[in-house]
Parts: sequence; structure tokens; C-alpha cells
Amino acid sequence: MLTDMLEARILPTHTPELFVAAVRGAAQLLRTGEVIALPTETVYGLAANALDAAAVERIFAIKGRPTCNPIIVHVADLQMARRCVADWPLLAAKLGAAFWAGPLTLVLPRSPEIPDAVTAGGLTVGIRWPSHRFVQAVICECGFPLAAPSANRSNELSSTKAEHVRKSLGFRIPLIVDGGQTQVGIESTVLDISVKPPRVLRRGMIHAESLLAVTGELAAASCPSVEPLRSPGMLLKHYAPAAKLLILQWSDDNDLRLQLSRRTNPASQTHIIAHTHIPLGGESTRVAVIAHDPEAFARAIYAELHRCDEDGADLIVVEALPNSPEWHGITDRLKRASA
Ligand code: TXA
Ligand code: MG
Repeated sequence: MLTDMLEARILPTHTPELFVAAVRGAAQLLRTGEVIALPTETVYGLAANALDAAAVERIFAIKGRPTCNPIIVHVADLQMARRCVADWPLLAAKLGAAFWAGPLTLVLPRSPEIPDAVTAGGLTVGIRWPSHRFVQAVICECGFPLAAPSANRSNELSSTKAEHVRKSLGFRIPLIVDGGQTQVGIESTVLDISVKPPRVLRRGMIHAESLLAVTGELAAASCPSVEPLRSPGMLLKHYAPAAKLLILQWSDDNDLRLQLSRRTNPASQTHIIAHTHIPLGGESTRVAVIAHDPEAFARAIYAELHRCDEDGADLIVVEALPNSPEWHGITDRLKRASA
């Protein structure tokens, strides 16, 4: 029973000896069909042997994930990627050469080796070669690919620290590997290349402009609210903190105060996340400032949202982001969080 489990062991990785021991411990559990949490460069993953249908089904149970939502398969080299798919087109080779190892998931027709549980019964599979050294080492040690969604209960915020995983899933899994704060901070870009022209199913830090340079064509990007449901992760309400989230633009403190007074009652506990117009805090207002830089912002935003929830915020106000390609992945997540 899930509820009878002891709290997960947390294995650190910050010395070479600890790293090796954690790789061995993780691989041992994965080989026996267990589900564990481990770091990737984007967010923490909830991993199981992708070729073991029963193990993958347990991921769904642990997350409370709808069975119609397919799971990304993580590989550690091109040969393993090719084994997961029916065919390896030139475009996949080009995209792999340009962006792997890294935060890009390619959707391609699946190979028969991939169980139905992974693809939600669909004909395609999402493949990603993560750049994080720990998950790479575990995949190599296991010799099989890892199915891994983000390590959080379904519809909650993704985890960018081991502590986030412990809070969400600590009593549901036997092991959490602590790799510190993740580098990228939001989930991978998901690109469907089983269709022509290729189509971005989920925006991320590898943005449309960079993809276009390799693909030469891309289906028109659409904003989340009008996106047809090609990928269940595109559901508008997703990646959300418990508090209500608003995206606002303000010129100075007075302007912000005015906008807030129209929307909230004075007693509400408001947290503001800013990057250019830094407001003054007050009685019921806390302010966090993240550097005005897309990479830094992506890395920090989920931890900041987790903190707002922990502090019991009712309302989170995030300063609107610039409308340029390198910010689009982050804007996408904030829009979903505010839906
Ligand atoms: O960065 C990431 O992608 C993280 C780390 C752990 O790798 N994983 C992650 O997985 O975010 P998850 O399950 O939380 O989100 C995967 C997204 C979902 O929106 C899912 O619907 C979509 O990818 N997806 C997976 N396989 C797909 C497929 N065959 N066709 C269409 N969409 C797919
Ligand atoms: Mg997720």
C-alpha cells in the first residue's frame, strides 16, 4: 500500500564517493521495478524502467496521473534513443546533434519495445537525452531507458529541489536522490516531429527560434488558451501553486498598490515576484526579486512559487515577462499557473 510506506531515504551526491554510491543504490532499486526520484537538469524526475510496464504503471499510481498522459523516456546515448523509436529520421539526427544532451524532448513513432503504459496507448513516444550527469550515470548503470515524468503529484508544481520532492511524494517512494537545485528549472521543450511541419507541444528554454534554425519550418505556435489537446501536459491548468497567481505590470509602488486594491481584500497575504520594478514590501506583502535574465528566472521561479505556498500566501503577483523568444517557455508556465 502506498500509504504504509516509510519516508523515502534521501541520498546526497555532492562528493565523488556519494555520487557513485547513489548511482548504485538508484540502479539497484530500478532493476527490481521500483520507482524513485532523481535529479535531471530541468526538474526532478520520478523514474522507472521504461521497458517494464508494471513499473511504469506504478508511476501513474504514485503521481495520481491520468492514464491518458504519456511519459517521456530518458536515454543516455543515441543508440538507446533509436531503440525506442520505429525509425530515426534525418531531422531527429539533426535535432539531437544540435540540442542533446539537453532539455529537448522529441516525439516520434514508437518502437514495439516501448510498453503501452509509457505512451498512454498512443503510437508515438517522447524521447529525451538529459544532460544531468547523475541521471546519465544511472541509465548507463541500468542499461535500460528510464520513463520519468516530473517528480510531483499530478497538477502540482514540478520539483527543482529534493526537498520539494520529499514534501510531495516522500511517503510514496523508497528513494530520493539529492542533486541540489536543478540548473534549467522548467520542464523540457516538447517537439513533435512525427508530424510535418514539426510542432512544439510544450514550450521550454529551447525556444522556437533555436528550433527553427534546425528544422527550417515549424507549425505556428499558439498560446496555451487556444492550444488543441495534442499533449495532455498542454492542459491550461497545470504546473500550479496552491495560491492564486496573477501576472501584472506596474510602473511604481502607487500603480501596483492601486491595481492590487482593485483585486484583493487588504488582509490577504500577498507575495510579489519582481525582476525589474521592485516594489516595497509591507505588512501583508512579501517581495522576492529574481534577476532580469531568462535563464536565472527559469532556474529560480518554481522554488519561489513553492516558497510562497509554504509561507501561506493567498495571492502571488508575478511581474509580467518580456515578450521575446527566450522568455516564452517561462511565460507559458506562468500563464498555466494563473489559469
Ligand atoms: O524536463 C522534463 O521534460 C521533465 C524531466 C523529468 O525530464 N519531465 C516532464 O515530464 O516534465 P512530464 O510527464 O511532467 O511532462 C511530459 C509532457 C507532458 O505534457 C506529456 O503529455 C508530454 O510531455 N508527452 C510525453 N510523451 C508524449 C507523446 N508521445 N506525445 C505527446 N506528448 C507527450
Ligand atoms: Mg509534470
